[in-house]
Amino acid sequence: MRTQVGIVGAGPAGLLLAHLLGRDGIGSVVVERRSREHLERRVRAGVLEQGTTDLLDTAGVGERMRREGMVHHGIELRFGGDGHRIDFAALTGGYGITVYGQQEVVKDLLAAREAAGALPLFECEDVEPAGLDGDRPAIHFIHAGERHELQCEIVAGCDGSHGVCLPSAPNGALVAYEREYPFAWLGILAEVAPSTEELIYARHERGFALHSMRSPVLSRFYLQCERDADPGDWTDERIWDELRTRLALDLASGPIVEKGVTPMRSFVVEPMQSGRLFLAGDAAHIVPPTGAKGLNLAVADVRVLAAALRDHFATGDDAGLRAYSDTCLRRVWRAEHFSWWMTSMLHRFPDGAGFEEKLQRSQLEYVVGSEAAATTLAENYVGLGTA
Ligand code: PHB
Repeated sequence: MRTQVGIVGAGPAGLLLAHLLGRDGIGSVVVERRSREHLERRVRAGVLEQGTTDLLDTAGVGERMRREGMVHHGIELRFGGDGHRIDFAALTGGYGITVYGQQEVVKDLLAAREAAGALPLFECEDVEPAGLDGDRPAIHFIHAGERHELQCEIVAGCDGSHGVCLPSAPNGALVAYEREYPFAWLGILAEVAPSTEELIYARHERGFALHSMRSPVLSRFYLQCERDADPGDWTDERIWDELRTRLALDLASGPIVEKGVTPMRSFVVEPMQSGRLFLAGDAAHIVPPTGAKGLNLAVADVRVLAAALRDHFATGDDAGLRAYSDTCLRRVWRAEHFSWWMTSMLHRFPDGAGFEEKLQRSQLEYVVGSEAAATTLAENYVGLGTA
């Protein structure tokens, strides 16, 4: 097998890259470990920046998102029992966000790949990039019981935080920067109308809580929990009690159809490239979800990489590929800071009683009381931090 760009991973980054390259007449093959059903069902993030929705639109995969996505122009911060609205539109000159599930983006991209007759190879085993240091890289894998070598010019590592691409980069070439947080999020999806029009981020003595949504009949919630929490210990009753307390809200409840624990981590690898390997999305960086940036960063990486590859294959101009990592890392580090800042401001830290809590409270009061501070939050949230 031979193609121009070998892509590992059929999440949003890998699928969008394949789609954008295809529109420019550049060949690619996507190799994926999991099944199509798994990818389409996996509940992940749900907030899209305007830059993300604009790109999906221009790429011709935004039609359902425009129809079903929920456009919001603010969020609510809740602490000390009171809510405070951060008005994105007023603070950023009209910007907003679209609430639309990541797995819906994945479904739309898969439908587009299917229409192009270029679906990923699903359920591949023993996926292994090779020859990344030379000029004849390849991806080795087993598909439908047969061993394959996919020869390509470029390997795009879009295989997430536990992928095989990052570890296959030559030893010592990349430097990782990392922070773990002493808590996790319990995420749930419930068949009930949202009890709020906009997202609510709540800081409470018992821990952080978030009220998000997926549709007029589907709500998404998160609760700060122990790092090693067992979702089985969280009965439906306990979840609703805890949400009502932390959100200080008269919450409508409904059947919980999904429950999972998400670890909280900050991680960046530099540079995002080594030889013929280019990393994009979670394979290169992780943010804690409090800033709603993960999917948006992946899409931003892919936009830069697709443009650089277009130049490379059209004219042999590699300036874009050489600048890829630096270009992406500016946005990545802004999002890393914002996500760390939101996380630090809104969670209960195990050793944080006293001084730290007073600082959090003061920072929250400043953010909702000062237009300058509110603008900082708003422009980062909508994605203007590096514009
Ligand atoms: C979500 O809806 O899944 C969501 C929303 C906002 C966040 C994180 C996750 O900050």
